[in-house]
Amino acid sequence: MTDEVQTNPTSPGKPEKPRRIPFFSDVDLANIRWFWNNYLMKRTPWLLAVLGLILVQGFAYQQFLSLTESGLRVIFDEGQVADLVRVCALVFGLFAIRGLTSYIVPRLSTWLAASAVMELRRDLIRRIMTFDLAYFDRTSPGETILRLVSQAEGLSQFVGQATVNAVRDFTTVVIVSGYLIYKAPVLFAAAIVVAPVIILILQYVSHNIKMVQRQAENVLAAYMNSLEETVNGMRTVKISNQERFEEKRLLETTRGIRELQIKLQAAQATVMPAIDIASAFAYALVIGFGGYMAISPAYDIDGAAIITFLIGLVMVFDPMRNLAKFFTQLQASLILLDGVNSLNRIDPQIRNREGATDTFDTGGEIALRDVTFSYAPDSPLFDGLDMLFQAQKRTAIVGATGSGKTTILSLISRLYEIQGGAITISGTDIRDIRIESLRAAFSVVAQDIVIFNASLWENIRYVRPEATEAEIWQAAEDAEIADLIRARGDTPLGPKGAQLSGGQKQRIAIARAFLRNAPILLLDEATSALDQRTEEKVKRALARLSEGKTTIIVAHRLSAISDADRIYVLDQGKVVETGTHAELVALGGLYHGMYTTQKGAYV
Ligand SMILES: Nc1ncnc2c1ncn2[C@@H]1O[C@H](COP(=O)(O)OP(=O)(O)O)[C@@H](O)[C@H]1O
Ligand SMILES: [Mg+2]
Repeated sequence: MTDEVQTNPTSPGKPEKPRRIPFFSDVDLANIRWFWNNYLMKRTPWLLAVLGLILVQGFAYQQFLSLTESGLRVIFDEGQVADLVRVCALVFGLFAIRGLTSYIVPRLSTWLAASAVMELRRDLIRRIMTFDLAYFDRTSPGETILRLVSQAEGLSQFVGQATVNAVRDFTTVVIVSGYLIYKAPVLFAAAIVVAPVIILILQYVSHNIKMVQRQAENVLAAYMNSLEETVNGMRTVKISNQERFEEKRLLETTRGIRELQIKLQAAQATVMPAIDIASAFAYALVIGFGGYMAISPAYDIDGAAIITFLIGLVMVFDPMRNLAKFFTQLQASLILLDGVNSLNRIDPQIRNREGATDTFDTGGEIALRDVTFSYAPDSPLFDGLDMLFQAQKRTAIVGATGSGKTTILSLISRLYEIQGGAITISGTDIRDIRIESLRAAFSVVAQDIVIFNASLWENIRYVRPEATEAEIWQAAEDAEIADLIRARGDTPLGPKGAQLSGGQKQRIAIARAFLRNAPILLLDEATSALDQRTEEKVKRALARLSEGKTTIIVAHRLSAISDADRIYVLDQGKVVETGTHAELVALGGLYHGMYTTQKGAYV
């Protein structure tokens, strides 16, 4: 989450002089620069076109003012109907121009903003793909979704509409003010005496908005997470009778959202009244002071000029109000921008090294030498682990849950980076192999199987989209899942494969391994959820598949691995016994203990 404090560059420790809170912190400026450079700069010609149209709009306003003055003068002084008609026609023409630009500008700007944010989303998606698995272990999906969905959407709205309107309002303010200054500098000076107060208020408000918006984003992410967890865990929720608890949990977060929304509004609330009071002040001053100037013969200014000036002020204050509102939106959007850009500050560790190779001998032995690894910094899982998986042989790893079996498979396929030692395939360090080529060398049946909400067929094909129909059928037959394909047809399997049994999911995973048919086979409790008869069949097929492949089998049922060429017994991250089934049984140690327990259980 973006709770990194925007640090103050001045030296810490020293008591600081109370200083003005900047409208834009260094982080904000860096974020804006990033967004501009990547998504807006290349659209400069179009942005200029929008700006040009906006200028036309502003100019139309100014012309309207000057025409009004002429019109009033016609009424007050000369009284020529023809002149009046001309003025009316011109006024109409001006508004027609403004109407046309009011059509083109939003269309153009929405297109620009939507394209910019599409590219932003594209880049964020690409970026997320490069993140280490470890990132996803510690980051809840809600946070990622928040950045890619709601924050990106918020930015899109802001860039597309709010900014363009602000530019238009700003131009109007500048042009009309310029005209007013030109016509009556003294009156104008009187009208803006309260401006500094408004700036002070904005400064104060800006800080509050940022704080509250940041909290609001955190709460929103928490809400998404809770929702995701509850919905995903509905089975557990229901079976444990925890619906009320979940309800309460979600309700609390929604309450938090409500409170922050109210707080956010409260933070912005002072801006509008401040502007209103300031404008009332200005109107009063102009009417009084201007009226006096019109009456007094000492000034060369007439009633028409004063009325025009007042209309001009209305035309300035209205966009000023909008600008103040824009300003509060801007402060909030800076938090969104920071949230989105925070993804760019995450540094994936597992990357292709300079000069990493595509070609390596996938058929050689896999060795772990003096490997150290820990998920969390303070509790090492492996501390100097040595293992050897012989080329094209079947090696098994057994051990209690939590002893590190799955982690070994993850490290070999470089899903996590080891912290010391080396893992080699045929003598090549896996860090010197391009990640894609490395992973292409593996067929995996993982312990936690991921099923997508697509048809069974699509789910199997996922690991090799270019496979032929015959190959997919063959893989399905080998994994004993072909009948189910015939029965289910193209029906999607439900979110996360919810419509399947554990054993069916496992057979999809096995079918994927058959289809993938890569030179190295990693089986993590691959048949644990199958009934004995199906397991027998699948095991025979897997035995065929593993022929000529370097195979690593993790299993807790020793019956599944008794014919392995070598067996490692793992205990709390350490290899405690090594040998064949017969050797280990004869050793009378941990393996022997497991074997006798299981044999007892099955007989
Ligand atoms: N992604 C992870 N983040 C942090 N700790 C983990 C993670 N995966 C596993 N662990 C921990 O590492 C240890 C080994 O886990 P694992 O390799 O899955 O064991 P096994 O497969 O032998 O049951 C366990 O103590 C487990 O809690
Ligand atoms: Mg495991």
